[in-house]
Amino acid sequence: MAKEVKTIGVLTSGGDAPGMNVAIRAVVRTACHKGLKVKGVMRGYAGLLQEEIIDKDSASVSSIIYRGGTVLNTARCEEFVTPEGQKKGADICHKHNIDGMVVIGGDGSFRGAGKLAELGINTIGVPGTIDLDIACTDYTIGFDTAINTAMQAIDKVVDTSASHERCSIIEVMGRNAGYIALWCGIANGAEEILLPERWNGNEQEVVNRVLECRKKGKKHCIIINAEGIGHSTSMARRVEAATGIETRATILGHMQRGGSPTCRDRMFASIMGARAVQLLLEGKSNRLVAYKHGEFVDFDIQEALQMKKDISEEQYEISKLLVR
Ligand code: ADP
Ligand code: F6P
Repeated sequence: MAKEVKTIGVLTSGGDAPGMNVAIRAVVRTACHKGLKVKGVMRGYAGLLQEEIIDKDSASVSSIIYRGGTVLNTARCEEFVTPEGQKKGADICHKHNIDGMVVIGGDGSFRGAGKLAELGINTIGVPGTIDLDIACTDYTIGFDTAINTAMQAIDKVVDTSASHERCSIIEVMGRNAGYIALWCGIANGAEEILLPERWNGNEQEVVNRVLECRKKGKKHCIIINAEGIGHSTSMARRVEAATGIETRATILGHMQRGGSPTCRDRMFASIMGARAVQLLLEGKSNRLVAYKHGEFVDFDIQEALQMKKDISEEQYEISKLLVR
């Protein structure tokens, strides 16, 4: 029997991602159109436990569609990982009449969302992370903006690397996943792409690759290294010592998480945010909105968290064919 939802909360949790604001806007506007009350929970689960809860109406989300970051702020919260913290969170939801919650974040945030659902708050997750590392979905809000930001930054590093005839090791984010590295590696025409999913720890292969490039007459060599492998600065020192070729490391860092969301991120965040509210209106709970095989779908949170995904072997193999 579907439980009727009258007031919904929305929060953003974990690392921010461009497009989170678009998802917040979609949640608030869809809910308002459907006659629901909406409360914005500031600073993720940390703000929930501090009762940092504000009323939201349609006008309150005006002019945020093009802004990076999240107007609700985000946080990581140890207390919410404990059963006591989760119970306190659910009690605070009840106190504020929040009977439905939309959690925009990554895997960790969805574990928290599952707990809220167990405690009787109808909860729906929306995937927001630049890492693309949520197994049940082919798309996560923020990935498209991040790869475009990183690609443009890498183009600039390539300019100077080519002028100086250097080798550049450029480290991109992604936590333990290599999606950003793989996409940028292909899009920037890198000579080598180092992915946590395929890394065997053999740096000599990187050295050989750099030497091979030089032998072929290439003046510069671009290596995209994923954060999950890391150590770019010391790797650059070792590659320079072993090859005699001047080598620099550039770690792109948090600039990849900022900036105005791309059209694609705005589109997906709008649909996914609206979908989350529709699921709540259907009385659903403990579900994750996802995009799979070209369609918007939803999955049970626990089942989704059990799923595994890997980078595309085809894309990885093609990346190697495209290098001179
Ligand atoms: P992301 O959502 O981007 O994966 P984190 O892994 O940092 O980011 O998780 C964000 C927050 O979600 C954590 O700070 C914590 O409050 C909550 N969380 C993570 N794991 C759990 C868990 N097992 N149970 C309840 N809450 C969790
Ligand atoms: O999950 C997004 C992400 O940017 C990862 O790529 C990275 O590992 C992590 O967050 C960095 O987190 P923080 O902002 O806490 O340094």
